[in-house]
Amino acid sequence: MSDKTAPPAYKIIDHTYDVVVVGAGGSGLRATMGAAESGLKTANVSKVFPTRSHTVAAQGGIAASLGNNTPDHWSWHMYDTVKGSDWLGDQDAIEYMVREAPEAVYELEHAGVPFSRNEDGTIYQRPFGGHMQNMGEGPPVQRTCAAADRTGHAMLHALYQQSLKYSADFYIEYFAIDLIMKDGKCVGVIALCMDDGSIHRFRAQAVVLATGGYGRCYFTATSAHTCTGDGGGMVLRAGLPLQDMEFVQFHPTGIYGAGVLITEGARGEGGYLTNSEGERFMERYAPSAKDLASRDVVSRSMALEMREGRGVGPDKDHIYLHLDHIDPKVLADRLPGITESGKIFAGVDLTRQPLPVTPTVHYNMGGIPCNYHGEVVTLGPDGNPDTVVPGLFAVGEAACVSVHGANRLGSNSLIDLVVFGRATGHRLKEILTPQGKQDELPKDSADLALSRLDHFRNAKGGSPTAEVRKEMQQTMQKHAAVFRDSELMAEGVKLLAETNKRLQDVHVTDRSLIWNSDLIETLELDNLMAQAVVTMNSAENRKESRGAHAHEDFPDRNDAEWMKHTIAWFDGWGGSGGDVKIDYRPVHEYTLTDDAEYIKPKARVY
Ligand code: FUM
Repeated sequence: MSDKTAPPAYKIIDHTYDVVVVGAGGSGLRATMGAAESGLKTANVSKVFPTRSHTVAAQGGIAASLGNNTPDHWSWHMYDTVKGSDWLGDQDAIEYMVREAPEAVYELEHAGVPFSRNEDGTIYQRPFGGHMQNMGEGPPVQRTCAAADRTGHAMLHALYQQSLKYSADFYIEYFAIDLIMKDGKCVGVIALCMDDGSIHRFRAQAVVLATGGYGRCYFTATSAHTCTGDGGGMVLRAGLPLQDMEFVQFHPTGIYGAGVLITEGARGEGGYLTNSEGERFMERYAPSAKDLASRDVVSRSMALEMREGRGVGPDKDHIYLHLDHIDPKVLADRLPGITESGKIFAGVDLTRQPLPVTPTVHYNMGGIPCNYHGEVVTLGPDGNPDTVVPGLFAVGEAACVSVHGANRLGSNSLIDLVVFGRATGHRLKEILTPQGKQDELPKDSADLALSRLDHFRNAKGGSPTAEVRKEMQQTMQKHAAVFRDSELMAEGVKLLAETNKRLQDVHVTDRSLIWNSDLIETLELDNLMAQAVVTMNSAENRKESRGAHAHEDFPDRNDAEWMKHTIAWFDGWGGSGGDVKIDYRPVHEYTLTDDAEYIKPKARVY
């Protein structure tokens, strides 16, 4: 990075808001809508047009115990989520999410989300992996509320419209570069307008990071190319930690070779997986839930089948997903999007042929640690692990509340977005005064952001951004995969430290500020790199297997030593080798209310 004492001269345009939300996916829009609705002057800063945010790709649906298609109860949803998390989820936050879920879904319905319907007019709900009846004892529950297989798309449109209705201001195609921190408090954010190259300084009583995951630190992911963890990068640069970054979810059904998502709703509607022998192998691994076991279990089972030579294709490196036995009318009605994706990305007619699929990086359970009000927390100077960082909030995949722990259940992401986006809106209303007192900005408020911008804009090294990015992605793909072992991860740590150094020798060709995608991709890579390094180090550090972290040298869960959240700080800026400091936060082993019982850890079988 360039010399911080000599910040470059860029003209800055100033704005003052009560609340600035960074990111316009499901959680960002829900928080924006909530803040604006309560009279707070609210801005939303987004690098893509809101309805193109990655939530648009969410297919199968949103979990809530409405009980429309099968009996259900919030306590069953809580049990499944805790079990799905492999007991790393915080049970107070999980209780909050599942109890608020029905209300949050009805709000979406009233906001205009065109949910699919049952004959009686109620919202259609389908089965999804790991969601069961009767505290895990019964058959699969139909809990996932669906708008065909375009649920996220429908939600984004409704939430954007609502945010506009409440007069939130949108700064679209603005790239947030860095937070403005003052004495440990967040007082604003600096952004670049990608269209005309102007620099914008947003002063705010509160900044909400809703920037999504960092799936693109892997080579193949269902995540959009925009999923570069910009909020996580900003938080690390502000000297704050990220949490549970070793837990990366592989979705069982990414289209082989393309990585495009095929919703778990496909198995919810009756689809099943087979190996090269035509065997429905999930019956062996999860005799009760079978193809609807949780994602970590299904992905591992698929990986084992391939490893043992029962994958399909000449290289035995994928698995078949069958939907060819399902009535084509059902496919057209409930799964039209994936029927089209199968045709486009695999040349397969799903009504007649099986689809080649493979486990594909899909979701980051880890992220910015926060409580169930959306407030970012850190380890305080007095050792309090729940110390609130004033002025800073995080929601959605960028955040780690933690409701998903070591493994997220399908359709619990969309409900996380709206429940905690909404909770953040409530908290902001509670603690802020509309047009209330603002902190004076520090004199050097823009220095960090502008120094980074200027450094990368003028980077003349020997490594093009795309080359450095590919090296990072390939290392992550190989060394932090579905199965990991000590040697592989230790090597991954070393390799990434080298790649991080290479980032200092990056070469950016375009020097302009007008729609400079070369520069934006390099700033994104800087965000990705820090999180890749933290992920690999956190994974290497955790000596047990839990949820999505399948450690071959430590194949069992070890509650006595490892039922704790990893928190990790990054100090490898400027290619200093990718140093990571690791500490821990206790898992919240308590519920929010007396109505809910703490769910004690036990063996996790499906
Ligand atoms: O499979 C899916 O439709 C993805 C949903 C999710 O990740 O929650």
